[in-house]
Amino acid sequence: MAQSTSVTPLHIVFVSAEAVPLAKTGGLADVCGVLPRELAKLGHKCSLFIPGYRRALATSLPLEVTDVGFAIPMGGRHVACRLLKTQLPDSNVDVYLVDQPQYFDRDALYGDVQGDYRDNCERFSFFCRAVVHAIEQMDMHPDVVHCHDWQAGLVPAYVATGSGGYSWTKRCASIMTVHNLAYQGRFWHYDMVHTGLDWQYFNWKQMEFYGDLCFLKTGLVFSDAVTTVSPTYAAEIRTPEHGCALDGVLRDRGESLVGIVNGVDYQVWNPAKDRLLPHQYDVSNWRIGKRVCKLTLRADLGLADTDTVLIGIVSRLAGQKGWDLILPLMQRWLQMERPVQWVVLGTGEEPIESELTQMAAHSKSRVAVRLEFSEALAHRIEAASDIFLMPSRYEPCGLNQLYSLRYGTVPVVHATGGLVDTVVDANQKNLSEGIATGFAFNDYRLDELEHTLGRAVDVCRTEPTIWAKIVECGMRQDWSWQRSATQYVRLYEQTVAKKQSMG
Ligand code: ADP
Ligand code: GLC
Repeated sequence: MAQSTSVTPLHIVFVSAEAVPLAKTGGLADVCGVLPRELAKLGHKCSLFIPGYRRALATSLPLEVTDVGFAIPMGGRHVACRLLKTQLPDSNVDVYLVDQPQYFDRDALYGDVQGDYRDNCERFSFFCRAVVHAIEQMDMHPDVVHCHDWQAGLVPAYVATGSGGYSWTKRCASIMTVHNLAYQGRFWHYDMVHTGLDWQYFNWKQMEFYGDLCFLKTGLVFSDAVTTVSPTYAAEIRTPEHGCALDGVLRDRGESLVGIVNGVDYQVWNPAKDRLLPHQYDVSNWRIGKRVCKLTLRADLGLADTDTVLIGIVSRLAGQKGWDLILPLMQRWLQMERPVQWVVLGTGEEPIESELTQMAAHSKSRVAVRLEFSEALAHRIEAASDIFLMPSRYEPCGLNQLYSLRYGTVPVVHATGGLVDTVVDANQKNLSEGIATGFAFNDYRLDELEHTLGRAVDVCRTEPTIWAKIVECGMRQDWSWQRSATQYVRLYEQTVAKKQSMG
């Protein structure tokens, strides 16, 4: 096992609303369920806090009830919780679940068909306060508290202000990672009462954002360093176009904002060992492997068994993911009877779901749609498809294009955020240099997408040698977590040194 070159192992506490295998709605869970394990492999101690949601408590992992329990004053009443403990699989990473049934014993993580849960501010204020309290009560002395997305955004404020009087905060550095700047945790200003923080912090330089309380801004201003999940997105969010009105705050952070690309858990996403596939394969035998996977998936989903290009999509059904381009393109190509098939797996916004359902009903042999969350189907689509379509309007990092590369499924992407950093367009120059791994378009427009996807489909159908070069170059890419984990360690070490030198 690789060992860190650092002299002293660090103790890093992760604070996140999601982590595989306990609770997942998107890539945040993949990152927070795997990065701690990779850091532990490098010789560091990692602990992780997540809310004790109903589905997390239903885990098949062994859960231990700890003797850590306490109450937090929440706007005039005391709310009690206790900590449950488990470990991330195949690791020595301790996971603490904040068990508070009134807030977390619910069907979903953030909301239901009616929208976000109305008490999300109270729920995640409580979560952050419980974490900082638990660290004190357990006498942990972390070097770094690594906070992910708005749900953990208050933690850097407790660390920086010393609010609560916790001794561990004096020498601990805080890091805020932005997985998606558009989700900000913005609430009615009077919800400040739930945070337990003094109203003096409710000002335009700290927690206030256009009259509201903003958890993400709080994390961005109070943390010792800010990261996001790709260098291109780190540059983009400093601009008004992608900054979601927080670009000024981010520019103010100067060099303490950096982008580190996510990794892939190749223990889970590896076609050579993937038990969810009807046939395993690697770069030496991908043609036969993918053909078996494609035949099986077509049969299982009721798609016609014809010699056409299969385009796969696994995605949240949300504006971010480019549905305003994908849906009209699908309609157009179905009308034109272009010889391609579509397979879509996703859940999300109702208008997108219903348009997809209608298309599938009208063109059963050419469109298969599954509106569910299914790990197994996600793997089978990655393996069976020729092309993976991901024309996101914006994309902080994106994981599915990385999975696609390893599965020999050529990604077609909009050149934005992490997609720029991970997919190399198959233009003449890149092809001749042997570095092309996919197809990318620059302007977010339907004609651009149509042209680029058309180019990919044509190469797939008519240029088998070039296609094989692109597929194999993609399959050989190494996006393992080890590379990213090493970059995080460097950042932790620098940030800790800076914090501790300040006394
Ligand atoms: P985001 O976090 O913005 O949704 P990412 O590409 O970073 O995008 O990560 C999405 C993760 O969620 C991937 O692991 C993907 O396979 C998974 N995913 C998304 N929708 C589904 C679904 N309907 N069923 C199974 N997995 C899904
Ligand atoms: C967010 C982003 C996605 C990123 C993921 C994990 O959900 O939308 O691009 O890969 O977080 O960092």
